Amino acid sequence: MKKVLIATEKPFAKAAVEGIKKILSDAGIEAVLLEKYTDANELLQKVSDVEGLIVRSDKVTREVVEAAKNLKIVVRAGAGYDNLDLAACTEHKVTAMNTPGQNSNAVAELAIALMVYMARNTFAPGTGSELKGKTLGIHAYGNVGRLVALLGKGFGMQVYAFDPFVSKEKIEQDGVKVCQTIAQLYSTCQYVSLHIPATEQTKKSINADLLKQMPQGGTLINTARKEVIDEDSVLALLQERTDLRYAADVAPACHAAAKEKLGTRYFATEKKMGAETAEANINAGLAAAQQVVNFLQKGDKTFQVNK
Ligand SMILES: NC(=O)c1ccc[n+]([C@@H]2O[C@H](COP(=O)([O-])OP(=O)(O)OC[C@H]3O[C@@H](n4cnc5c(N)ncnc54)[C@H](O)[C@@H]3O)[C@@H](O)[C@H]2O)c1
Repeated sequence: MKKVLIATEKPFAKAAVEGIKKILSDAGIEAVLLEKYTDANELLQKVSDVEGLIVRSDKVTREVVEAAKNLKIVVRAGAGYDNLDLAACTEHKVTAMNTPGQNSNAVAELAIALMVYMARNTFAPGTGSELKGKTLGIHAYGNVGRLVALLGKGFGMQVYAFDPFVSKEKIEQDGVKVCQTIAQLYSTCQYVSLHIPATEQTKKSINADLLKQMPQGGTLINTARKEVIDEDSVLALLQERTDLRYAADVAPACHAAAKEKLGTRYFATEKKMGAETAEANINAGLAAAQQVVNFLQKGDKTFQVNK
């Protein structure tokens, strides 16, 4: 019987685990569960004889891939897959996948919630402002970015987007204006919502030079990855430009300093909250299990990310 390991330091919701187990067992596959592990050696041990691996934010390093002698497929239940060592997977003929779109709505709702929270001065007593009529810039028009754009329109915002990999027609179909350059997006928009993946090209790409182009009172919302921010330069600019605000899903390394120096102009979640809804948890987990089954039974490689 083939075995699939579900390795989650931060476990799936109970309903998701039950659903994953059912999908696997209906396909004649044994599900092995490793939850809340604190030592990476536990993962190295458990992965040694499985054909498939499902993870959340767990790190699938070269060491893990090499310890998994029978591994054919690893699925990251979620959108970002920077926790997978893709080069090691490719070298060892392991197909790596993500589950795009499954948690997008949860992240999009959080991005809007952060905008409202910052507009209302983190709910400190005093007068805030509204999103209606403000300009919203979507930096990367993928699954999450598009949903934030649609929600922003629902709030009466004027929405702009920058994504060199999505056609002008596709963006304009949603009633969203296309920016040809990143500079145009940041200089036009009072709110910028970040949805770029963390890649060699994007890491530390959001810096003071970019942010200082934002209009007076501008707010940057980051529900993408902390790695895309050049933290030192952004923190320095936020101290200089006392009109700007920054809210992030998952605290940057400079969290304590930012909190102390920026007060209500700064907020960050203590732990990554974007995909932490029961719905997203279940959607991503079930999709991951189904993708493993489709791959092991039919060789289906849809959603492969190490092509
Ligand atoms: N906070 C969370 O819990 C959470 C949850 C899901 C996703 N995320 C993060 O959000 C990111 C976006 O998720 P998604 O589901 O929308 O991914 P997606 O793959 O659907 O969209 C990513 C978009 O980024 C665009 N892009 C890539 N490089 C770019 C660049 N240099 N400049 C501009 N655009 C660029 C792509 O064209 C694509 O449209 C993920 O990579 C992940 O890091 C965070």
